Formats: sequence, structure tokens, C-alpha cells
Amino acid sequence: MARITVFDTTLRDGEQSPGATMTALEKLRMAHEIADLGVDVIEAGFAASSPEDAASICAISSEVRGVVITALARSISGDIDAAAKVLETAESARIHTFIATSDIHLERKFDISRQECLDRAGESVTYARSFMDDVEFSAEDATRTDLDFLCEVVEVAVSAGATTINIPDTVGYTLPTEMSHIIGTLLARVPGLTDCVVSAHCHDDLGLAVANSLAAVAAGARQVECTVNGIGERAGNAALEEIVMALHVRSDLLGHETGINTERLYRTSRLLAHLTGIEPQPNKAIVGRNAFAHEAGIHQHGVLSDPRTYEIMTPELVGAPGTELVLGKHSGRHGIEARYEALGYTLTREELDRVTEDLKTLAERKKTVLDEDLISILHHGIMEDVEQTFHLASLDVHCGGDLSKASIVIEGQDGVRLEASAAGDGPIMAAFAAMESVLDFRVVLDDLTVRSATPGRDALGEVSIHARVDGHTFTGRGAHTDVVHAAAQAYLHAVNKAAAARNLEEAHLESTANHWGV
Ligand code: KIV
Ligand code: ZN
Repeated sequence: MARITVFDTTLRDGEQSPGATMTALEKLRMAHEIADLGVDVIEAGFAASSPEDAASICAISSEVRGVVITALARSISGDIDAAAKVLETAESARIHTFIATSDIHLERKFDISRQECLDRAGESVTYARSFMDDVEFSAEDATRTDLDFLCEVVEVAVSAGATTINIPDTVGYTLPTEMSHIIGTLLARVPGLTDCVVSAHCHDDLGLAVANSLAAVAAGARQVECTVNGIGERAGNAALEEIVMALHVRSDLLGHETGINTERLYRTSRLLAHLTGIEPQPNKAIVGRNAFAHEAGIHQHGVLSDPRTYEIMTPELVGAPGTELVLGKHSGRHGIEARYEALGYTLTREELDRVTEDLKTLAERKKTVLDEDLISILHHGIMEDVEQTFHLASLDVHCGGDLSKASIVIEGQDGVRLEASAAGDGPIMAAFAAMESVLDFRVVLDDLTVRSATPGRDALGEVSIHARVDGHTFTGRGAHTDVVHAAAQAYLHAVNKAAAARNLEEAHLESTANHWGV
């Protein structure tokens, strides 16, 4: 059985999804989760793209252990310098450099000849190797590149010292048979390539990213590049959980294994959805809400007699929770702790104090507390990573007539109490208007989604918003049995993030002014 290297690019290619922006702390949190999942390589970002991305890669390099950390760099020396610098503190590091190789990109994007492309590919790999031994080279738009020329580029990169050669299907254009032909041809024709790891990086524009990745593996690729929940540019990247479970469930035919702890797949998916506000579609394989739901009577009967009649894997294998009643307001700390343990979460004492408190409040509003509620409480209560500059003390709404009215009380960190009332088109807009009237932040709402954490009328409502404040985009999240309350929490969460960003900027300006003696 060959071991397939799982290269996770959720924090780089995935974060390029519209609306998937995460703060540096959120990315760090996610990087820990992905490392604990058992991936081999984490692509933490694109250092030269922004100072924020560089800082976030630095933080991940310094903290996340037991996994290779890589940073993307164009075939430009400045980009490679930036990548090498942010990887300095990583336990194991890799520079990932790339250049487009298809004629359309060479002619229309760069206006360079094939020879110039070959020169740049070789120079950039040689330069990256001057910093470290582990260097990956990607031929962007490889699947639309003339195959003879692709062989030449790959040969140059291998001779210059690349240790991994990645073949991206950048625009999601290829088909499984074509992908295996490309990988097979490269392995047969490029001298020295069999000593490197060949990798596939597939996008999902035709819904074939996972199939193409598996075809590449069948043809000899030993690394797959993918993202949690398949997030990424346009239609997304190949979904990590789907590739991993296909390799696992069909190891009889495929004959390969990964280092992934499959029982953590669901919780990793939930954390990403929570941080980005981007929910996997309900029928998404492995991690969608309906992935293990059997609606038809005939299926239910079969599953009750023997789950193998309609299930090719158990929900437990991917860590998906059950939906039975688990806890109530009389549950004690031990019961709560044990249930979280069963779901794969080991809580610290402070975390346990917090969820016990939140669970009691929830159990007063909601008769049945399910596993999904526990995950939601944990994410909303504990993993919030931003200072609570503003806190929602109370909210009253009145609906009816043309406009709804909302009255809010917000408590500031410095003991200030802000009170306001406003009208709006619906209770959520009224609450937002009331908050906007007393807070010194102009919030432009790009998106608002409401999701119920569990089925049932008394379900915990989760609201996430994408909002622009001071020219930056922030994700705000809230959870409450009352969705208007959850929306107000989400609004304040985004404002708290904006307040933290303002404080950072002010501190930075102050230190720059001190430095220059201004
Ligand atoms: O899709 C792509 O081509 C990429 C490369 C930069 C690896 O993301
Ligand atoms: Zn990509």
C-alpha cells in the first residue's frame, strides 16, 4: 500500500473563495485543527500577497508542529524571499513556487516565450533550493499546456532540484482519463521524475476535481492537494474529505492509504463552516447534513435491519454526530464532559465551565439538546478569538405594521452603557440600525445567513454575516434560539473584530511615529 501525501490548501487556495476570509487567529485555529486531522502538508498562505498573510503564515510556522508548512511564491525572487522568511520558524518547511505554462497564459497574461518560461521555472527552483531542501514546483494551468512542453518544464524543474512536482488543473477543465494520461506521460518521459513526488491539484469547475485527483493517483501521483469542504476559487478545489474517504472505503481497488484520522473529518468541516460562515450544501458527500440521513421508508427499514444495506461507511467513521437526545438542564459536568469526549473534543477546565453554563441556558429554552447543539455552543462560546469590546446586554423587538422596532442595550468594555431604539425593514434590520446609531462603526452588510443547528421548532439558530467595516471584510457569528438575537450577536462580533483591527492599526501607527521621532 502506498502512502498518499495529503496537502491541505484550505488556508491559501480555499481562502480565495468569495467570502471565506479569516482573521490571522482564525487561520491559526484552523491550522491546528487541520494538523490534528493528520494532513502531511499545510499551505498556510501566499506571503507576498499581503502583510496580513505574511504575519499569519509566520504565526502558523511558529506554532503548528508535526506537519510540513508551506507558503506559495510566484517564480519571482522577491516572492521566494518572502516565503523563505515567513517559514523560518517552521519545524519542517517547504517553498512552493509556480509559473503558468499554457500558451494562453504565456501569451495573454505574461507576454513571454516558452523559453523564458523554462528559464524562470529553472531559476526559481534553484533559488528556492538555496533556502531549503524541500521545494515544490507547480506548472499553473498544466492540463491546458501542450504536453511536450509540459514535459520540458517539468524536466527543468526536476533538474533544478524540485522535490515535488505539482500538476494543477487550474481551471477545472480536464477529465479523469486525460489526467491519468498526463501524469502517466510525465512519469514515463521525464528523467528523474520517479525520484520526486508527483502531485495533483484539481479544481471543480466541471464537478470532477475529486475524480481527477483519484485518476492522478491511479496513474502514479503520490500527493493530492485539496481543501476542507472543497472550498476554493469559483467552484472550489477537490474536497479533502471526499478524496480521503474514497481512498479509505475503496482501498480494495485503489490500494493506497493516508495519514488522516477520519474520525476528525466532521469536526474539521464544522470548524471551517463556523469560521467562514460558508456551509457545505446539505447533500455534500461525507460532511453534508444529509450525508447519512435515510428518508425513504424502504431505506430506513434496510438500515435498521443492517446498516450495510445502504451505508458504505458509518457516520462514526467520519465523526458525524448522532441526532438522539443527549443532554438536558439537569446534566452534570461529568456527563457533559463525557459527551464532548465521545464527539472527539477534550475540553480544558475553563471550556467545560463555559459550556456547562451555556448548556443550562440553552436547555431552559430548548427541550432537546443534541450533539449538534454541543458543537455549536463550543464554537460560539469558546473559540471566539476576539476581545469583547462590545457586549449585547439586551434586545427587545416589536414587529407588526410597516416597520419593525428594536431597542438595544450594549455594554462597552470600559463600563459604558449604550442604549438606542430604531425602526427597520424587519426585526433584524431594526436591531442593526439601533446598534449602528450608537456605535462608531459604519457596517456594510454583504451577506447574512441563518441556519438551524438542529431540526425542530426550538432549534438553536446560527447566524453568520459578512460585513465590510473600515474597508476590511469581517465574518461575524452568533447563536441563539431567537434568530434576531443571534443576528445581533453576529453584528457585534464583526464590530468587535473591526475594533480589534482599529486598535492594532493605531498601535502600529503609534510605534511607527515613535520610531521616526514624530
Ligand atoms: O490552481 C492552481 O493552479 C494553483 C497553483 C498556484 C498551484 O492554485
Ligand atoms: Zn488552485
